[in-house]
Amino acid sequence: MDTFEGKVVVVTGGASGIGLALARAVAERGASVVIADVEAEALDAAVRPGPGALPSATLTVPTDVSDPVSVAALRDAVLERHGRVDVLCNNAGVSTFNLLADQTLDDWRWVLGVNLWGVIHGISTFLPVMRRQGSPGHIVNTASVAGLVSGIAFLGPYAVSKVGVVSISETLRQEMAFTGDPIGVSVVCPSGTNTQVMEAERNRPAALGAEARTPDAERWRLGIKDGFTGPDGLEPEAVADQIVDAVLADRFWVITHSDLTPAFEIRFAEIMAHAPRKQEDRA
Ligand SMILES: NC(=O)c1ccc[n+]([C@@H]2O[C@H](COP(=O)([O-])OP(=O)(O)OC[C@H]3O[C@@H](n4cnc5c(N)ncnc54)[C@H](O)[C@@H]3O)[C@@H](O)[C@H]2O)c1
Repeated sequence: MDTFEGKVVVVTGGASGIGLALARAVAERGASVVIADVEAEALDAAVRPGPGALPSATLTVPTDVSDPVSVAALRDAVLERHGRVDVLCNNAGVSTFNLLADQTLDDWRWVLGVNLWGVIHGISTFLPVMRRQGSPGHIVNTASVAGLVSGIAFLGPYAVSKVGVVSISETLRQEMAFTGDPIGVSVVCPSGTNTQVMEAERNRPAALGAEARTPDAERWRLGIKDGFTGPDGLEPEAVADQIVDAVLADRFWVITHSDLTPAFEIRFAEIMAHAPRKQEDRA
């Protein structure tokens, strides 16, 4: 895909943060944008006339990505309006903050439901449509540096979900090469970005109860928020620009920050140090 001009781009979690910045970036490049989000009021705000508003023709679809029926309704709304979809951005994401010992089963259900099942629902619902179209397209999955460092204290379910998103993306890339479908794949692994991600519990369904953060976990959350995702983080527009470039260049990895590169090196060096070489197998 070498242009966004005239393309139909669907962004989940498109009413805030990285998703909203991405929606703006592709709209500026001539795409018809669909933003899907669980926060109906934020969807309305994103298109309300004023500075930074998305074009009035933007389709806004209240969607819960953890619910396959809701994602199917999103697909139907996109096809009814535009008759096609060229780019799917599975971007919605949430997190809890607690030690594994203190994470409830509902914490796991919520985080995996949005972050992992949301991507699964997006792919299983939209990929068949994109394959039938047969035209160049792209799927962008937003993971995190958590998907590359893998284990992060206090962020257990989040890290599991993001490792899963990296894995799904790598599989999808291989399979598109295997089947020859002209659908590119990118996986976005941001580090700290100045968004509302640290207030994700605002969207937690009441049916899954409230998060019971310990004081230690709350300190951890505030530490990340203050030193990482707050004003010290990248602005979401900078992450969105990198995603746009990656789609246009058909680049898989979108690793937006350098701060955790040493952590990747340490992790992979430790794995390599324990991975037997062929001659050691025989010894
Ligand atoms: N901000 C960071 O530092 C950072 C770092 C790494 C990865 N990420 C990832 O970036 C993505 C975007 O997050 P953000 O930082 O822009 O946060 P954000 O909270 O500003 O935006 C996330 C959006 O997802 C929506 N959402 C939540 N639950 C949903 C659901 N069930 N269905 C549909 N939409 C839902 C929210 O309403 C919100 O609009 C997430 O996947 C997040 O994990 C963010």
